[in-house]
Amino acid sequence: MAKVKGVPQKVAVIGLGKLGSPMAAAVSARGVTVIGVDLDSTKVEKINRGEAPVNETDLADYIRRGRERLRATTDLEAATAEAEIVFIIVPTPSEPQGGFSIRHVLAACEPIGRGLKKKKAFTVVVITATVMPGSTGGAIRECLEKHSGKTAGKEFGLCYSPEFIALGSVIHDFLNPDFILCGESDPRSGEILDAFYQTVCENEPYIAHMNFVNAELSKLAVNTFVTTKITYANMLAQICERLPGGDVDKVTAAIGHDTRIGEKYLKGAIGYGGPCFPRDNLAMGALARSLEAQAALAETTDRQNRAEVIRLADLVNQHAKPGAKVGILGLSYKPDTEVIDESQGILLARQLLDGGRDLLVYDPMAMDAARVVLGEGPQYCGSAEECIRQSDVVVIAVPWKEFFLVPENAFAARRIVLIDAWRMAPAGWRSKTRYVPVGVNVPAPKG
Ligand SMILES: NC(=O)c1ccc[n+]([C@@H]2O[C@H](COP(=O)([O-])OP(=O)(O)OC[C@H]3O[C@@H](n4cnc5c(N)ncnc54)[C@H](O)[C@@H]3O)[C@@H](O)[C@H]2O)c1
Repeated sequence: MAKVKGVPQKVAVIGLGKLGSPMAAAVSARGVTVIGVDLDSTKVEKINRGEAPVNETDLADYIRRGRERLRATTDLEAATAEAEIVFIIVPTPSEPQGGFSIRHVLAACEPIGRGLKKKKAFTVVVITATVMPGSTGGAIRECLEKHSGKTAGKEFGLCYSPEFIALGSVIHDFLNPDFILCGESDPRSGEILDAFYQTVCENEPYIAHMNFVNAELSKLAVNTFVTTKITYANMLAQICERLPGGDVDKVTAAIGHDTRIGEKYLKGAIGYGGPCFPRDNLAMGALARSLEAQAALAETTDRQNRAEVIRLADLVNQHAKPGAKVGILGLSYKPDTEVIDESQGILLARQLLDGGRDLLVYDPMAMDAARVVLGEGPQYCGSAEECIRQSDVVVIAVPWKEFFLVPENAFAARRIVLIDAWRMAPAGWRSKTRYVPVGVNVPAPKG
């Protein structure tokens, strides 16, 4: 790839987890040298052996493609001394009142500050981890200035630039963003980050430059807006289920054509989960309370989403006779990931087990994680087909592509109930089962 003038040639990525590893690999594959840093020496060793430290689509391939420009260490200070940009992508766990803790970010900023102190070259520190508004310009800036003895915006740069990625497509999403947020201490730092993204991205995203707090708020705003849209579609789905003749896909397909609304994330189905979406509404609520403002919309979205599993369990109980075996297909929070944080499949499993249901479960990647949280409760199946063959009622909670490869004859023996949250089951399945699409009015069986 042709090098753009003034483009950073070497960057450090601090935190080689679910976001940091794919980002480090993608950047190195696009021609920039990357020093990955993690406190976890297992992840560091894996990167140095050319192996993927986490499960993520295409990660092993991108590590191979960037191999000669990608190495890892546990030494934050040394990595900072070498890098032109230092991205911090460490965990920012939720606090009980809804905000995000920056204790790991501050722990990383101490050695980064010491690294900055030793060098002459201008270095930009970029906070990529999700933080609460006020954090970058507050405690993070103070910590870096204290340990470097330098002033942010003058002697080193500081930016807040989060990523809008989904697990399972992190590399694609990182390389092809709709837009980039850049909260910046000074224009020079923003320009350096611009040059970096122009080299690394496969598209030419709009880059929105602003101060720290507006960028921090924008990150929360994207996720709270999208989840509100999902929850709106789920409200329509619930109404359609009870409205004779109701079909949520007809409604959302029509209103999605209105450019003020748009079709993305407007598929009435079941609740959202994952490590980011659920916590961002809580964070927006906490932020509003701290400012004595109102965030009732974000709080209602969260409350409504937490009630979605009850709606799904009610649907199962309406269609499952007493003693029926219920199978759940899909336990991860979305396809193509092993992550189960707040997944609807797991929440449904818990709800049904608490109700005394005889339960079978299957997921292509999340079985180990599911065993940890569900214990001995359900029967763990070896495949989607096994789960289907042994169940009286099957719920498709996550639309993994591999489920739909199960041959129709798996349904042939007896007429099972198929509850399809995403309305993606092939026609052959529908005709061989009592098909119950979520969001569509289907009268419950009599008796
Ligand atoms: N995973 C996602 O889908 C996603 C999406 C958008 C934003 N984010 C944000 O990115 C941040 C990281 O998330 P993640 O999912 O990659 O977390 P993760 O837990 O998968 O990985 C974090 C890594 O940071 C390392 N680490 C912790 N403290 C460190 C330190 N002081 N120095 C060096 N390494 C350290 C850990 O060992 C771990 O490998 C969070 O703020 C999260 O909110 C994540």
